[in-house]
Amino acid sequence: MSLIETVPVNTEHKSVPVHLHSNLSGLSEEIAKLPGVTSVFLITEKSIHSIYSKYLERELSSLPIKTIYIKGGEKSKHINRTGEVYNQLIEYGADRKSLILAFGGGVVGDFAGFIASTYLRGIRFVQIPTTLLACVDSSVGGKVAVNADFGKNMIGSFYQPEFVFAPLSVLSTLPDREWKCGQAEIIKHSLLSGGEYWEKVKTHSFKDLNVDSTILPYLIAESVRFKANVVSSDEKETGLRKILNLGHTTAHAIESVTKYKKYSHGEAVAIGLVTALLLSEQHSELDPVTTKETIESLKNYGLPFQTKLKSKQLTKHMLHDKKNVGGSIRFVLLKSPGSPIFDIPIDSEDIILAIHKQKGI
Ligand code: NAD
Ligand code: GLY
Repeated sequence: MSLIETVPVNTEHKSVPVHLHSNLSGLSEEIAKLPGVTSVFLITEKSIHSIYSKYLERELSSLPIKTIYIKGGEKSKHINRTGEVYNQLIEYGADRKSLILAFGGGVVGDFAGFIASTYLRGIRFVQIPTTLLACVDSSVGGKVAVNADFGKNMIGSFYQPEFVFAPLSVLSTLPDREWKCGQAEIIKHSLLSGGEYWEKVKTHSFKDLNVDSTILPYLIAESVRFKANVVSSDEKETGLRKILNLGHTTAHAIESVTKYKKYSHGEAVAIGLVTALLLSEQHSELDPVTTKETIESLKNYGLPFQTKLKSKQLTKHMLHDKKNVGGSIRFVLLKSPGSPIFDIPIDSEDIILAIHKQKGI
């Protein structure tokens, strides 16, 4: 048995276990616990599946399983791509007792989860995250979505999986840039959580991000535990869950200005964290030591902490963010590690100044 730890995500209507495993063994046992499954559909990217098909076949050989491939990349996580997948499910005779397995990173998880939430008004699904970001963030909490022509994640729902099964061994083939992307979210979670978690994150670096390091299961479990607690108290993001957007106001603007081509999501979040902390120094009395430590940590994990993009252009895009209400730009700020505040309206002039200051660090 490869189980490392199970972290529950308790929501109003469902308790979702997040199983951290060292590899894929044990997956079929978990699926067998779900009552009355008639057929199983593995939704994945060809490139990821080709690496792990041998292990998946061995683990899932007893199941009536069909594989449906989707194209990878943010552009393919689009509403236009859903029709062909619904048609395949219909052709294969998927019914209300069928089960979808989402095997991939956040793109596959969000897309397959969205399909599960809408096919026949909702069928069961399981998240099997294969990137660090998906392990610590996108597979946990039940947000599923696809993109529209003019906005990312604009069409979606809150739809919890039956369980999450994170097989850490699959991270061994993850490119360096994807490791860093996940680490940016870990730094975000640890800043929001504070305490021992933040202290531990600060003392490690990029060389520790590999499947053999003992710190990796700790970082993933702590991140999942932190996000699980937040989601448990505010599943539908009416309040507290907004703290998970720390750094994301600037990050979304950076991604949007560069048309999702120059920076990965994690790199944009890394830069956005620093903007949020500089604003926190000004608006919520954050000790500048935290900003300095965060920049050191971002450097240690090979992440950027500033951008050459024009601050006015970024601020203009922030004003269009769907999370803003009534023209003001709302930020998540920190009073100190572990003490976030959300929905704080900030003047665009202050944001421009903060990004200027960030350029000069
Ligand atoms: P991704 O799914 O695009 O994966 C990144 C790259 O890694 C892809 O090229 C993929 O083919 C490759 N890959 C995946 N697993 C691999 C493996 N084990 N070995 C080798 N290569 C592998 O990117 P991501 O960072 O995992 O997810 C980003 C997406 O997640 C975005 O669409 C974002 O909107 C979404 N997201 C959702 C939530 C949520 O709460 N639902 C939270 C954060 C992000
Ligand atoms: N990634 C932010 C959230 O799940 O709410």
